[in-house]
Amino acid sequence: MTREPRAPSGFDFHGESLDDIFTVYGEMRRDCPVARSDRYGEFWALTRYDDIHAAERDWQTYSVEPTMLLPAFGTDRPMIPIDIDPPRHTQYRKVLLPHFTPERIDRLEVGARKTARDLMADLAGEEVFDASSRYARPLPTVVFSEHAGFPTEDAPLFDSWVDQIIYARTENELASRAAADEVYDYFRRLLSKRRREPTDEDIISGILSARIDGRSLDDDELLDICFLLFVAGLETTAWGIRSSLW
Ligand code: HEM
Repeated sequence: MTREPRAPSGFDFHGESLDDIFTVYGEMRRDCPVARSDRYGEFWALTRYDDIHAAERDWQTYSVEPTMLLPAFGTDRPMIPIDIDPPRHTQYRKVLLPHFTPERIDRLEVGARKTARDLMADLAGEEVFDASSRYARPLPTVVFSEHAGFPTEDAPLFDSWVDQIIYARTENELASRAAADEVYDYFRRLLSKRRREPTDEDIISGILSARIDGRSLDDDELLDICFLLFVAGLETTAWGIRSSLW
């Protein structure tokens, strides 16, 4: 059976388009490596490694601002650092890097293994279970929340916000905006609590005491970093585990 060639102008990378995205990318690389799509208010898609690499490095021409996401994650605010161009990008990265060194990540291993074993123990005796909601999602949520300083008891809330912000956004922008507003409110409260009750070495403590050009980060900057960590740290890793299990 021959398949109709898809016009790159309708190119999408959400929802059902993902079912055969690698075939589509292959066709685009071959026939139309720089494609314009009319989805999401129009965008250009680069599909060849060399073009992507060149564009990523040429930030003066290919700015990431106002956002690298299509469509945005329920907010018009920039996610820091991903939506910021150099040289400010470099300053924010310096604030975050100490929390992601190999030594720092090694220290998560014991807790991560324990969380994984506990989740598996809860499944003992069950012949059929939902590996996504019972394992793939809670594991990185607990591990990353402890590293970041997000209260792990709020994990069910995090799940519902992630669903709205990441998955509902292409279908229901209002729901994703409402959830993003709730996440911002949540972190506003958490940051003010953590200013009153500092803890030792999680990422929130780190950004609260960080300095850029000799000054502390302001509330907007702190919130935009927390929002990025929230959406970057939880669901990407859950998908990594789901894909491995699959
Ligand atoms: C399997 C898991 C993950 C995948 C597939 C993934 C994927 C990505 C991608 C595609 C980018 C954009 C790179 C670009 O700008 O072109 C990115 C950036 C980023 N990710 Fe992840 N990510 C994952 C896990 C995480 C985790 C656990 C964190 C921790 C919070 C994280 C934090 C970040 C940050 C801070 C950036 C911004 C980097 C910058 O702008 O300099 N990611 N990630």
